[in-house]
Amino acid sequence: MNREDFPILNSGIIYFDNGATSLKPRQVIEKMKEYYFEYPSNVHRGDYGISLKADAEYLEARKLVKEFLHAEKSEEIIFTSGTTDSLNRVVFGYMKQYLKENDEVILTKSEHASNILPWFELEDQIGIKVTYLELGPHHEVTLEQIKKQVNDRTKVISFAHVTNVLGDVRPIKEITKFAHEKGILVVVDGAQSVPHMRVDVKDLDVDFLAFSGHKMCGPTGIGVLYGKENLLEKMNPISFGGGMNAMFLEDGTREYEKIPTRFEAGTPPISEAIGLGEAIRYLMNIGMDQIYRYEKELKTYAVSKLKEIPEIEIYNEETDSGIISFNYKDIFAQDLAIYLDHHHICVRAGSHCAKILKEELGKKNTCRISFSFYNTKEEIDELIRALKNPHIKEELF
Ligand code: ALA
Repeated sequence: MNREDFPILNSGIIYFDNGATSLKPRQVIEKMKEYYFEYPSNVHRGDYGISLKADAEYLEARKLVKEFLHAEKSEEIIFTSGTTDSLNRVVFGYMKQYLKENDEVILTKSEHASNILPWFELEDQIGIKVTYLELGPHHEVTLEQIKKQVNDRTKVISFAHVTNVLGDVRPIKEITKFAHEKGILVVVDGAQSVPHMRVDVKDLDVDFLAFSGHKMCGPTGIGVLYGKENLLEKMNPISFGGGMNAMFLEDGTREYEKIPTRFEAGTPPISEAIGLGEAIRYLMNIGMDQIYRYEKELKTYAVSKLKEIPEIEIYNEETDSGIISFNYKDIFAQDLAIYLDHHHICVRAGSHCAKILKEELGKKNTCRISFSFYNTKEEIDELIRALKNPHIKEELF
């Protein structure tokens, strides 16, 4: 779908690394160029035309994110630098104030580093305990297991909505319903879900949701933290300076701005926010349900073709998203990725920043294909041709 919008595809590459970052459509690039050419000024500060235009576009971008997520208010949308930044703000801006020694946070071993390392730091800083949910036979999260593991000390469940290596989709709506009955907060890492499926924060009833612009056809350097208004009102900023304060005096008296401005100290990523807004417009025009259906169809097709190759071992055949993790017998994952690059096919190899998943999977490194809506079955056929090459091992280096 929409391949003509992606200039890089004219180079002939086959891009299957959308989990790492997506390609950028012409519309987003043009919108960012428009900012730099026509109104390249700061926001929240100027009393002149081009600054007011920048303000209006920046606010419009926030409104687009709000509509995209079906959030209650634009105030619930904070622009950050990406998923990692968003999760760090939740952990150090909110959780650090409200969690106490021995409070427990449930994670899984398939989380990305960004949803583990901040919690480890909080363990060291205030003595919370990180625990891991026991996963099902296909490394999946089940509500039954959550019910078994939750106890009186459990205060937070923090999961990826879709994991970045196995692509399993977590039952967030069921989890939040149960968690909230127990007074447990639910933090969701939406880096791999928001770009690929409809994510409705009200329907899912998540407390916090983090995601990145660059994985959803937007620019790098911009992300979002969604938080329920009542929680954001209680969250501390972790960065202080211009823009976020309403006043300060020499004796240290100070007042901070209302949410979300309170959380956006300094000059924000203006062109990036505007670019993200355009990316959202672009995705909404295609339709998130259509994107999700199509990417799953690509996965089903690719899995059926990969299974024709006896040397291929797939680790997540059953998961419901456009991600496939696999290895080729006796070929190191990274060597395979380099071989595929010689065929102009981009895949990611390694641990994919999910460094404790190996304890679940029994594999330290895998090759990962992650689809987007601009991928095609013909591209998958090219991949399969390269993998079926009888001389693959001789051509590795
Ligand atoms: N989290 C990104 C990935 O999975 C970087 O590739």
